[in-house]
Amino acid sequence: MKLLFMGPPGAGKGTQARRIAEKYGIPQLSTGDMLRAAVKEGSDIGLKAKAVMESGGLVSDEIVIGIIADRTLAADCAGGFLLDGFPRTVAQAEALDRMLAERRHAIDHVIDLAADSEALVRRITGRSSCAGCGEGYHNEFKKPTHVGVCDKCGGQLTQRADDNEETVRNRLDAYQRQTAPLIDYYRRQGNLKDVDGMLPMDEVFDAICAILD
Ligand code: AP5
Repeated sequence: MKLLFMGPPGAGKGTQARRIAEKYGIPQLSTGDMLRAAVKEGSDIGLKAKAVMESGGLVSDEIVIGIIADRTLAADCAGGFLLDGFPRTVAQAEALDRMLAERRHAIDHVIDLAADSEALVRRITGRSSCAGCGEGYHNEFKKPTHVGVCDKCGGQLTQRADDNEETVRNRLDAYQRQTAPLIDYYRRQGNLKDVDGMLPMDEVFDAICAILD
């Protein structure tokens, strides 16, 4: 099963992708997570990506296409994968189509999570995640039992450098200009499924499972 999750920043791509990947036994490939890991390592890619990510812009197509081309060749992707946050431009989508066609593969479902911009700002600025296992939390919608501590592994909860209001608004703007055109791109291909990302998390999960099952 090859899946692609689209949607504006904060729509719930990461939250749902983790659950779906676990349920269906496929790896979640998040370009955001991979770029943040590169920034943390201080690799060449990380050094190039850091300032762009902190401003809320998009990292170059060349870098993210290269990352995904390599990552999807790993052994754990043989039975499928879930792309979270890639592609984000038409050039990335076209590169993905070419890459999959060369391997005689195709995306089975593109899930588009739609959500209201003001709700997204609230969601993102209230978000934290576990430095240990990556589990996501929110100070209103998904509180940990003990403030600042992960329920799953006891790790410390941290906030992303790009989760402040100014950067979130830049990210939403980049989404509208560069990523939203992909909705039509995939609708024309006939595999786009719309899911209401404003529903409670469990209902969003059930809606996605109903499509996949
Ligand atoms: P990335 O890490 O992909 O961030 P994003 O797209 O901005 O998305 P988020 O991770 O912020 O949100 P999400 O949709 O995953 O929502 P979440 O589930 O966490 O990218 C970061 C940066 O990397 C980009 O800005 C760019 O610079 C670069 N980048 C990455 N990929 C790239 C690419 N392909 N090309 C170029 N550059 C790239 O949910 C948010 C919060 O809301 C959480 O707290 C959650 O608990 C809560 N929540 C979720 N669902 C619900 C719900 N249904 N109800 C209530 N609360 C909810």
